[in-house]
Amino acid sequence: MILDIVKYGDALLTKRADEVTEFDSKLHKLVDDMFETMYGAPGVGLAAPQVGVLKRLFIMDCSSGKNKNQKVALINPIIEVEEGEQIGDEGCLSFPGIFVQVKRPQRVVVRAQDLNGGSFDLDVLDLEARCVSHETDHLDGDLFIEYLSPLKRDLLKRRIKKRIRDGEW
Ligand code: NI
Repeated sequence: MILDIVKYGDALLTKRADEVTEFDSKLHKLVDDMFETMYGAPGVGLAAPQVGVLKRLFIMDCSSGKNKNQKVALINPIIEVEEGEQIGDEGCLSFPGIFVQVKRPQRVVVRAQDLNGGSFDLDVLDLEARCVSHETDHLDGDLFIEYLSPLKRDLLKRRIKKRIRDGEW
């Protein structure tokens, strides 16, 4: 089932999400629906608060469905290592049509739980590292526009407000 994506302007996106404690069929269904929603959007990462669920989990697939090994759900993720830096264009499904340059670590090691509660480490570079960093931020209510300078951020917020007024958001 395709879920509605919460867009910037909704207070939900700036809240800290709660730990996942139940690894039940409801969680499995949520993750299935999130993958369907992300591939349909299309996007390479999606955090639960973006579909209105304030829980600490996100999904990603930086191969956009081409490589099964890159399809992963991370429950209760904790970033253990951040190394180096990369600067590149970044988007977010909660900010349709908006891309901005964001500095992120080039390598990230994250510890997370899988759908059954088992824990695993993921050691990723480049786009996947950018994605883990971006999606983990969502779970703390942090959005990518916070990395912009105050001036650029205000300009962008004004552009978005205009689109909200014009019914284009
Ligand atoms: Ni995002």
